[in-house]
This record gives sequence, C-alpha cells and structure tokens, in this order.
Amino acid sequence: MEKYVIRGGRPLKGTVQVSGAKNAALGIIAASIMTDDPVLIENMPNVNDIGVMLDAIVSMGGSVEKKDAHTYLICGNGVSTEDAEGTDILRRIRAGYYFIGAMLGKNGYACVPLPGGCNIGSRPIDQHIKGFTALGADVRVENGVVTAKVGDTPLHGAHIYFDVVSVGATINVMMAASMADGQTILENVAKEPHIVDAANFLNSMGANIRGAGTDTIRIRGVKKFHKSSYAIIPDQIEAGTFMCMAAMTRGDVIVNNVIPKHLESITAKLREMGNVVFEYDEAVEVIGEAVQRRTDVKTLPYPGFPTDMQPQITTALCLAKGTSIVTESIFESRFKYVDELRLMGANITINGNVAIISGIDRLSGAYMTAPDLRAGAALVMAALAANGQSTVENISYILRGYENFDEKLRGIGGDIVCIDS
Ligand code: EPZ
Repeated sequence: MEKYVIRGGRPLKGTVQVSGAKNAALGIIAASIMTDDPVLIENMPNVNDIGVMLDAIVSMGGSVEKKDAHTYLICGNGVSTEDAEGTDILRRIRAGYYFIGAMLGKNGYACVPLPGGCNIGSRPIDQHIKGFTALGADVRVENGVVTAKVGDTPLHGAHIYFDVVSVGATINVMMAASMADGQTILENVAKEPHIVDAANFLNSMGANIRGAGTDTIRIRGVKKFHKSSYAIIPDQIEAGTFMCMAAMTRGDVIVNNVIPKHLESITAKLREMGNVVFEYDEAVEVIGEAVQRRTDVKTLPYPGFPTDMQPQITTALCLAKGTSIVTESIFESRFKYVDELRLMGANITINGNVAIISGIDRLSGAYMTAPDLRAGAALVMAALAANGQSTVENISYILRGYENFDEKLRGIGGDIVCIDS
C-alpha cells in the first residue's frame, strides 16, 4: 500500500501544470462509445478512475488505443452492456453510470452495476431514473444492477424538470436524449464546466444540444453520431487545490493551463482571506499572505463554491485568524477528514453539515488516513503547511483524481515522497 511522507513548513513556489478535468473526461469517455466511428480524445488526465473507464470499454467489446499519456483513440463499435461480466469493473467507480445514458441512447438497452465511488453521502440516482423513464425507458434496479430498456417504441423527447441539481443526472439524461426522437427540454440542470464540456463533445459528434451552462438544456435528437476529435477542459478542482495550497503554505504559485472563469468562487474566497490572486489568460497566480483572515463558505452547485473544494478550503481556514464557518450543502458525509486534521492540532467543531473552524497559528505533523479523494488532497495540503513530518495513508483515493500529485508538488518545492509499504 502506498503512502505519502511529507515534511511541512516550506512555502510552495513555482509553476504547476493542471491536467484535463477528470469529471468531464468520465462523461466524455462514456459518450464516445455512442458512435461506431473512432473518436480521438486529447488532454485526458492520467488518473486511476479514467483507467477504469477505458478498461470498461474494452471489457464491453470496444477498443481503446493509447496514442500518448493523455491522448486516446476510442472506438465504440461492438460495445455491449448485455454481458454482466463485461460491466462488473464499473462497480469500482461512480461514473460507470454514464454508460446507462450512453448505451440507452445508442442501442435502447443498458445493463450496468450500481455506482461505487467516494463515500461522501448517500448518493441516490433517482433523478437519472426519472429522466430515462420520462424518455420512455423501462428502468429497473435489481441485485445491484440497473437495467434500462426501451419498449416497443424508441426513446422519445420529453420535458423533464430535475428535483435536485445533479451533475450526473444532467450528463446522463442529456446523452440518452441526444439520440431520442424529437425534442427534449431539461430544466433545473447542473451548470458545471464539465456539463458544457460534455455537451460540446456530444455536439462535435453530431448531437444538437443547446443551452448547456444555463438552467435549461434543449436537445433535438439525432439518429446517428459520427467520428470526432476533442480536447478536454482543464481540471477546475485540481487547479483550486493547488491555489489553496499556495495560500496555506504562504507560497507563490502560478497554476497553469486553467480557465480562470471556472475558478471565480475559489479566487473570491482566497482574496477574502487576504491572499493576492492574479488572473492571466490561461493561468492564475496565488500569493499567500502571512496573516490570513477568516471567512464563511457554503458549497453550492456551480457557479457556487464547489463541494469538491470544501475539504481544501476548510483546511486552509485552519490557519486563518478568527472563526470561520463552512456549510456543506451537497453531500452529508463530507467532513470525515476533520478527525485527521484534529490529530494535527486543528480546532474544528462539526455540527451536522456545518464546520466551525477556530484558526490557530501552526499545525503539527501527524499520521493520517485519507477518507476520500478531495479530503485526501486536503490532508496532504495540511501536512505541507504543518511543522514536522506527516504521513498520509490510503492514497489510492488521491490517485483516482490527481495526476502525478507528489511529482507536481515536488516541482513547486513540496517535500513529499511516495513510499510503498
Ligand atoms: C459529481 O458527482 C462528481 N462526480 C462529484 O465529484 C461531485 O462532488 C458532484 O458531482 C457534485 O459536484 C463525477 O462527476 C463522477 P450530483 P454526482 O449528482 O454526479 C443529489 C470528486 O471528488 N442527487 O451532482 O454523483 C446527491 O445526493 C467527486 O471528484 C439526488 O438526490 O453528484 C447530491 O446531494 C466526488 N438524486 C446532489 O444531488 C440523484 O439522482 C448532487 O449530486 C442524483 C443526485
């Protein structure tokens, strides 16, 4: 089992390169099998969850050719989800559910195991099922497997209002609807950058989707998709993580290959804390102030503050002056890492979905275990800012979503090594 050993207390300095967006890539990989033609995808992040999605395509009968570390040629010709063994691999990740929308749209049939993924709350998929059902599919969940199939008539357009704003349901139903007969209107949809990226990708294959990035998406179904070549957007959360790290270690880091607009909520909070943030065309620079101020944060769907940045900002606030309040409004179990931060001396009280953080001057190194992906990254960040040596175990979570994490951190002066115990 691999773990990170980190010696903290050094400001991070230099330039770090952000990879492609994991959560955009996961939807786009599934969508790529909706055509039988080959699809070239560039700027793919080299992280474990992506590897599982690509392996799944092969085990379902498609083909994947690696052109280089970040470029893949995918061919969905021959992909079938009828063989349960072929899709079993998808139990390991949450995004496997995107094959339901993709296969239902393409073939009118999908059979996929219920999603796994980070344990950060109950994570139901009722809104996905509501959408597929409205499009005319019969959806059943039995023995941990979701089966969705059309009846005598093909999928048809529908007017669907989502009861909760869901990234997964928006992308999944958008995929199925893009091959349904007629027009679909999706209301109260998610607006995250990866929704726009997935819609742009589908359009590049011949779909007719308008309004992605707003509350309402309009889709005219088409019969067939064709080949495409597409580059994935930069990862907003990886970028935000390095931004918080620069602030918390009182460093000066240029975070390169980003879309600054996607980072506005994070930039705003870091500035409220007293840090200096410069925005360039494709980069942001964060200069951490010696004394940082308290602030309050509430996670919300985009353009609100992302839940995937909640552990990182909560951790940064441990070393800010005053008492901060962080409210987690998306997932109910996303404060598990706080027990680990307490081992470092952090002063945090949890009350339901609210964290009350009383800032202290210094954290001290500790032996910690990552409870999930983003929390794992936040513990590494705390360790980089702390006095002394820390160990973070269970880093397989971190490797699901951060490419070459320790290497990138060493590139900006982080004293971190990965040890296989
Ligand atoms: C996506 O998860 C991301 N995962 C998560 O990334 C991210 O935290 C989350 O969106 C929110 O931004 C992927 O893209 C693979 P949701 P998803 O559906 O789609 C409720 C990371 O660290 N809900 O937007 O599963 C749900 O319980 C991670 O990279 C329903 O009630 O999240 C939650 O409260 C972890 N019914 C809220 O909606 C549904 O059918 C938002 O969930 C679906 C969701």
